[in-house]
Amino acid sequence: MDKIRYDVPQSARIWNYWQGGKDNYPVDRAAGDAWIAIQPEIAAIAKQSRQFLMRAVRYLAAEAGVHQFLDIGTGFPTLQNTHEVAQAVAPESKVVYVDNDPLVLAHARALLVNTTDEGVTAYIDADYHDPDLIVSDARNVLNFTQPIAVMFMGVLGHVADYNEARAIVSRVFAATPSGSYLALWENTDLTETARAAAAEYVKSGAIPYRLCTPAQVGGFFEDLQLVEPGSVPLNQWRPGPVEVGAIEPLDAYAAVGRKP
Ligand SMILES: C[S@@+](CC[C@H](N)C(=O)[O-])C[C@H]1O[C@@H](n2cnc3c(N)ncnc32)[C@H](O)[C@@H]1O
Repeated sequence: MDKIRYDVPQSARIWNYWQGGKDNYPVDRAAGDAWIAIQPEIAAIAKQSRQFLMRAVRYLAAEAGVHQFLDIGTGFPTLQNTHEVAQAVAPESKVVYVDNDPLVLAHARALLVNTTDEGVTAYIDADYHDPDLIVSDARNVLNFTQPIAVMFMGVLGHVADYNEARAIVSRVFAATPSGSYLALWENTDLTETARAAAAEYVKSGAIPYRLCTPAQVGGFFEDLQLVEPGSVPLNQWRPGPVEVGAIEPLDAYAAVGRKP
């Protein structure tokens, strides 16, 4: 296991801070606060991204009939995780989580346990820069002759080069059969505050986060059939009813697509 670093901010812990969790340290909160000072919207993105994950997984398990999930860059267990959402709809759902943060690993062992007798939940401690390793480990749990939902939820910005991020997704997805799905979202660069916050974040010592253009988010789905409403701000992807007014778009795009 990699050593847990308390002197360098870590993505999973900063994200946990923004989501309102307790699995973070002063160094993470300082980096998180520095981002919020420039782009306050990031806290809403962090919270709304979980809502998107829940809507996407529910769609996949209930409407698309996919009961296998490979959630790469899982982050800390939170209120509603992929297996809880999927197994509530389809109890037999199998979920494999992947992350490379040593503290996430420690929590995952304790918390990511099945919510049903039929379901399976597993965790792989791996770096997504080695997609072949992830696929070969995931084969121990998932049946790669049946559709799989591959999830990259706000994680690929840590890959410095967009084309390399595309290659990672392609490499994992190449192992899946027709009828599989990709669910993905990324922080986008539409607002000056997002661009400035990401630039400032580099100075924190954390692994930088590269923002995408909305077109680049769509690019991950180039060979796939986009599920309605396509690639949109993540809080506008099949939202629930709003009591009053319209849903203001956040600077983060999300989509779900099916492999033909
Ligand atoms: C912004 S958080 C998103 C967490 C979660 N997907 C969510 O939507 O709440 C990014 C996650 O990606 C993980 N991550 C970053 N680089 C990674 C890598 N090279 N391999 C695997 N996971 C990575 C981090 O540890 C962190 O948990």
